[in-house]
Order: sequence, then structure tokens, then C-alpha cells
Amino acid sequence: MSGSLQVRDIHLDYGARKALHGVTVDVAAGQIVALVGSNGAGKTSTLRAIIGLRQPSRGEIAFAGTRLERLTPPDIVRLGIALSPEGRRVFPRITVHDNLLLGGYLVRDRAVLQAGVERMFALFPRLRERRRQLAGSLSGGEQQMLAIARALMAQPKLLLLDEPSLGLAPIMVQEISRMILAINREQGLSIMLVEQNANLALRLCHHAYVLENGKVALSGPGGELAKSDYVQRAYLGV
Ligand SMILES: Nc1ncnc2c1ncn2[C@@H]1O[C@H](COP(=O)(O)OP(=O)(O)OP(=O)(O)O)[C@@H](O)[C@H]1O
Ligand SMILES: [Mg+2]
Repeated sequence: MSGSLQVRDIHLDYGARKALHGVTVDVAAGQIVALVGSNGAGKTSTLRAIIGLRQPSRGEIAFAGTRLERLTPPDIVRLGIALSPEGRRVFPRITVHDNLLLGGYLVRDRAVLQAGVERMFALFPRLRERRRQLAGSLSGGEQQMLAIARALMAQPKLLLLDEPSLGLAPIMVQEISRMILAINREQGLSIMLVEQNANLALRLCHHAYVLENGKVALSGPGGELAKSDYVQRAYLGV
């Protein structure tokens, strides 16, 4: 189905360091799936394997029925997956507007590209106000919005979000959360949400996975995991 992802038993190494030891996760079309876990658990590595930045040494990744493990990142973006990377990596020395255009580099039709930019400005009015500003001069929260908007410019069916709330003030976290729910509901976009903020992720998602030491330790509906003693103790500080 369009937008659905299956990750099956992937292993991933950085030289001698083993980062993933058999990770299996699913994203059903139209769902928000959370991947939570502490520092070094393997969350970013899982996203890197999906988008093709790192090849898993074992296992399978399929998107809408197409196997991804041997494809390059541009091929994977063309199939309909986009990544908003950890640390809001916008291009600091060019404007907000030009960052958006770069996100849509695979869109050939100028009118479609322009309509995409307008759609992003409607979704993030703050970015419209700042469209001529250099991206490096935006606040942290605004840069996070731009990183998400830039990923959306590729017109993905599945959006991978790596730590969108990291380092943001509570009010900005709320705004980003509303936005994530809005793009999921209004556009039926599937979302894989990586967060250390388990509280936030479990509230937003349909289904969640807890990663520990490169493995899935626990999974289930977000509401159920939030109630489990284990998650409350380990991740919610209850
Ligand atoms: N480029 C790299 N070279 C070597 N080791 C790496 C590299 N990237 C990640 N690792 C290691 O792989 C493991 C998993 O890292 P990963 O970045 O996937 O964790 P994470 O869950 O995203 O953590 P965080 O919450 O801190 O972002 C860690 O032990 C990390 O040190
Ligand atoms: Mg990470």
C-alpha cells in the first residue's frame, strides 16, 4: 500500500561498532509511528538505513512493495520517502525560500514547485514572513519548521522526522506537534517520528517502538506503552 513501510530484521554496523542487531518495525499507510529510546539506541541509524544513507548488513526494507536496501538516497526520495534530519540541518547561508526550493529539487515542473512553496507557507506562516531571511538567522524552532517543510517539498508519502522537538521551548514543541498531527490528518501522510521525548511521541503516535541497544525492546499502541510500568520508569520519569 502507498506510504507503508516494512523493516525486517535489519543489522547495521559502523566498522567494528554494531549499531542495530535485528530491528523490525512497520509503518502502516497513514499512520504516525514513534521510535523512542535513549541516546545511542539506534534511532537515527534506523532512519539512515531506510533513506539509504547506510546499507544494512542484513535484513530487508520494503516501501509500498519495493525493496530499498540497494537503492541510493535520491532513488528512495523519488519513491516517496523524505527525511528531516537530526539537528535541523538547514542550509544556513541561503534564504528560507531557497531552502524550500532545494527540498523540491526532484520536482521538475516549476508550477508544481511554486505551488509546493505556497503550500508550505500556508502550513508554516512564520516561514512566509521570513522567506527572504537567511536560514542560519532563524530561531531554533523556526529552523526545525524549515527542516520539516524542506522535507515535505519532496512530496513524500512517508516522512521521517529525527528528533523534531530537541532543544525547543515548550511552546514551540506544541506548535511542532500540532503541525505533525495536521500533516498526518490533512494529507494522510505516514510519519515515522524519532524522539527522545517519549512523553510527546507516545501522545502523538498510533503505534510505538522502544529501541534499546540496537533492538526493539517493546512495541504497542502509544497509549498502552505510555501506561506500561516499564516505559513509565525508564522513559517517562514516573
Ligand atoms: N557515523 C558513525 N560512526 C560510528 N559509530 C556511529 C556512527 N553513527 C552512530 N554510531 C553509533 O551507533 C550507535 C547508534 O547511534 P544512533 O545515532 O543511531 O543512536 P540514536 O538512538 O539516534 O541516539 P541519539 O538519541 O543520541 O540521537 C551509537 O552507539 C553510536 O555511537
Ligand atoms: Mg539520533
